[in-house]
Amino acid sequence: MSGFGRECAEIVRAARPGSYRIGMILGSGLGTLADEVEDAVRISYNKLPEFPVSTVTSHSSELVAGTLCGVPVAILSGRAHYYESGNPSVMRTPVETLKELGCDILLATNAAGSLRQEVTPGSPMLISDHINWSGLNPLIGEEDESRFLDMSAAYDADLRDTMKKVARETGEDVAEGVYMWFSGPSFETPAEIRMARGLGADAVGMSTVPEVIMARFLGMRVAAMSIITNYGAGMQATALSHDETKSVALTGMDRMKQLVRGFVKEIGNE
Ligand code: 6GU
Repeated sequence: MSGFGRECAEIVRAARPGSYRIGMILGSGLGTLADEVEDAVRISYNKLPEFPVSTVTSHSSELVAGTLCGVPVAILSGRAHYYESGNPSVMRTPVETLKELGCDILLATNAAGSLRQEVTPGSPMLISDHINWSGLNPLIGEEDESRFLDMSAAYDADLRDTMKKVARETGEDVAEGVYMWFSGPSFETPAEIRMARGLGADAVGMSTVPEVIMARFLGMRVAAMSIITNYGAGMQATALSHDETKSVALTGMDRMKQLVRGFVKEIGNE
């Protein structure tokens, strides 16, 4: 079972020939990173077969191919979520496309709720592992034996070390923790947040896990980072809203951009 990754990669290569090193997925409010890509071509998702166009406001839905700090990158600016369609493999073709473009590294980003008081809104959190609370999996229906995918080192330890080194050098205090995937689109209840904390999660969100599973299935190395936009339900005085997620993600963008640029430079020097 495979999607249209090869066809999509051919369309990208026709617009901008070359091989790419790092693939990125930009989450809610984080799309402005794609503006920094140099020598870029932008291809709207509706020109790419089987690419899902997100209905989430603040997601731009284009693939941006070019260079960042001299390193060839392919960026998915905007992602589709399970809760938009009920399809857990909605990001299959986009992730396959990154792989077909030559990317052996995926850097996934998202906006997430913090379960730790000291990890405050606006700050980045490096993802060390995840809990798939949705019970869903993008490999459901896959017939090949490789569907029994080992997930014991999904978030590459060397890439995390690289990110931590960059953080130290830029004076950023980056937290590291476990991301728990809830299907959404409603936020969690306070009881669910207490449960999540008890189960060992540090942040909660509605994305990323299916893309990480898919990327590991395709043999890519994965790094992932959240921007904390709020606390989990019951941990803050105000109600949760998508407007808050979007506006706080923007304020955390500069810190995130610095880390991502440093990370890309380090990979380019490898
Ligand atoms: Cl609190 N929960 C979920 N599921 N996603 C989020 C969030 C919370 N904050 C930002 N994204």
